[in-house]
Amino acid sequence: MNKDLFDNFTLGKIELSSRIIMAPLTRCRAINHNLPNELMATYYGQRAGAGLIIAEGTSPSPNGLGYTNIPGMYTEEHAALWKASTNAVHEKGGKIFLQLMHTGRVAHSDNLPKNAVVLGPSAIPQPGEISTYNLGKQPYPTPKAMTKEEVKQTIAEFIRSAKLSIEAGFDGVEIHCAHGYLPNQFINTASNQRTDEYGGSIENRCRFVLEIAQGMINEIGASKVGIRISPFSYADTEEDASIVQATYRYLTEELNKLGLVYVHLSHMGEPVPVKFELWKNIREIFKGTLILCGDFTKETAQTALLKNQADLIAFGRDFIANPDLVLRFQHNWPLAERNRKGWYGTSSKGYTDYPPFTQ
Ligand SMILES: Cc1cc2nc3c(=O)[nH]c(=O)nc-3n(C[C@H](O)[C@H](O)[C@H](O)COP(=O)(O)O)c2cc1C
Repeated sequence: MNKDLFDNFTLGKIELSSRIIMAPLTRCRAINHNLPNELMATYYGQRAGAGLIIAEGTSPSPNGLGYTNIPGMYTEEHAALWKASTNAVHEKGGKIFLQLMHTGRVAHSDNLPKNAVVLGPSAIPQPGEISTYNLGKQPYPTPKAMTKEEVKQTIAEFIRSAKLSIEAGFDGVEIHCAHGYLPNQFINTASNQRTDEYGGSIENRCRFVLEIAQGMINEIGASKVGIRISPFSYADTEEDASIVQATYRYLTEELNKLGLVYVHLSHMGEPVPVKFELWKNIREIFKGTLILCGDFTKETAQTALLKNQADLIAFGRDFIANPDLVLRFQHNWPLAERNRKGWYGTSSKGYTDYPPFTQ
């Protein structure tokens, strides 16, 4: 049967109104101590027409709040406040997952709450600079190499955060194992040089994220747990291609055994052929739902579905400027222009002020 972007789709135990997914987008609007708020609920409610919204990278721990004004999901208060967003989406018939993102070494102490720590698998800093609340741009600090106890503690934080997410009304969670954040830092030899069972071999480097996935499944069920990975994104450029391929094949085999509801493949960085070869391997290995994301248009998304390269297609930047993206695709209405201004602002400007299309 031919697949179409506008098909209904069963994802685990929920029904999506189309195969068009809103990708997770950090927007930095949690400006009061990382608490989710009504403005965010308005923004998500405006985008409830997506088949599924994957809400922005949200920290499962005080230690994971590496960027300014990103939201948290590690207290009962967070869960209670997130309900405004899940209600806003559900009231309009939409579905919403939450992406759980621990920034790990991609952080600065100036951005973290008091007593929180910049952690990483090893004491190796991320190259480059990060924006801070008070100090402008700063070089990434050298993270504290996590003790075994901190590893276990962080896994427990992810699992609790998944539980809180369900309490808050989310339909599921996405483990952010892409783009160089903490689970990705464990997978990558450039950031993980541990000599215990969380470093070294492929099995050991994948252990952190697999323990998180298993723990979440035990807590909220496999039908509510997805994962995002980005092999060969900029986070893997320091590694040998054959290591990256072998690592992600192994990881996908294990994710398949666990029965996660989806794997979400993110394309960022260079469009190197080896990346798309690996995507094919992952499609073959993983029997659950596959989401692709990165540089898709309506037309290329349709083609990817027709070629059975994926089940669902996620769109990022187009959902920022087009709250009614599904309708625009359906009716061939023009898309509003992408405007980077406001991506990471602190107000409603460039956030909730994009109107739906009018003829
Ligand atoms: C402003 C902005 C914020 C983003 N925040 C996140 C995030 O929190 N988590 C994540 O996994 N990816 C994040 N991404 C990446 C997007 O999810 C998506 O992969 C990327 O925009 C490519 O898709 P597109 O070509 O459809 O825009 C972000 C991208 C942008 C532009």
